[in-house]
Amino acid sequence: MAVNVAIIGCGLIGKKRAAEIAKDNEARLLFVVDIHQESAEKLASQHHCQALVDWTEAVSSPEVDAVIVSTPNHLSAEIAIHALQMGKDLLVEKPFGRNFLESKAILDAATKSKRTLIVKTGFNHRFHPAIAKAKNLIDQGVIGKLLSLRARYGHGGRPGMEKEWRASKSLCGGGELLDQGIHIIDLMQWFGGGWAEVYASLNTAFWPMDVEDNAFVLGKTLSGADAMFHVSWTQWKNLFSFELFGSKGSLHIQGLGGSYGQETLECMLRKLEGGPPEIKTFSYPDEDISWKLEWEEFKKAIFARTPPLGNGEDGCRANQVIAAIEQSNLQKTRVLLHE
Ligand SMILES: NC(=O)c1ccc[n+]([C@@H]2O[C@H](COP(=O)([O-])OP(=O)(O)OC[C@H]3O[C@@H](n4cnc5c(N)ncnc54)[C@H](O)[C@@H]3O)[C@@H](O)[C@H]2O)c1
Repeated sequence: MAVNVAIIGCGLIGKKRAAEIAKDNEARLLFVVDIHQESAEKLASQHHCQALVDWTEAVSSPEVDAVIVSTPNHLSAEIAIHALQMGKDLLVEKPFGRNFLESKAILDAATKSKRTLIVKTGFNHRFHPAIAKAKNLIDQGVIGKLLSLRARYGHGGRPGMEKEWRASKSLCGGGELLDQGIHIIDLMQWFGGGWAEVYASLNTAFWPMDVEDNAFVLGKTLSGADAMFHVSWTQWKNLFSFELFGSKGSLHIQGLGGSYGQETLECMLRKLEGGPPEIKTFSYPDEDISWKLEWEEFKKAIFARTPPLGNGEDGCRANQVIAAIEQSNLQKTRVLLHE
């Protein structure tokens, strides 16, 4: 049994997805599609599949079982909805549509389908080994009751970034909050059981663009934990830091490999008698295996017809939190989220 896949969008992420699928005996990459013919042809020749420029051809092909949407964000909802209408399983790279309304429209299309389709958001951070290990330790109760979460994530952009689709409100849907912030929002909802409220400040501090390059967010999770994060495109040295504090200890994730530095997890256990905690450090290789693990989990969900980790609802909820954060920033007030 093999799953037949079409990838729409042959940029940075489309190439990563194609590389993982091409290595997998239980998958066949049938089509790679890009509006730039050269990009599609180059990727197709690497992975021995067919190059197309028109995504509707791939999405309509009866041979295709699953569609991966890795285009700029303004195209995600239209392609995703069409794929669902054609009865395809679906992975949409984060964000799951440019905003909450687009997310809802994708979910509605899945609900209207005659059969249950597998719908996933590309939340590869859940598959980083340090993050997955932290989730495992939290679920085992190793650090006790979760009290608070704190994260920082960012990079310093690149020359000409203000001309990219990511810097355009209409093409992207938002700025750094929607770009890297959405991973933090998703991880915090995964660890903390959803967001209950947010208070935020968004700012375009440096880059000449019509979206925010910095977001500061304070909030609470549904489990009652306090949450705080800062995401930034003026973080001149790349940074990923995600920390969880519990009643018995804390977990500190640093780095994502590559330019974000070595991925490590420190587990600190509080001593009842006081003094410095016991520290155990887990270190992971530089290679980013999150794409491989996320693909494998999506494929398993397709075979088993079970919800994938980081599904469409998770993507939609993350966009709902972003809408609340944007509202809080505009109104300068705390915004409650109602599930
Ligand atoms: N999970 C992550 O950490 C992560 C990281 C980066 C990007 N992403 C997401 O992945 C998606 C793609 O980002 P990227 O960095 O690969 O962007 P990119 O600009 O590198 O690639 C997008 C590709 O889509 C192609 N394209 C544009 N219009 C098209 C059309 N009509 N039909 C087919 N192809 C078309 C472009 O030519 C380009 O090759 C975005 O949604 C982004 O938010 C996720």
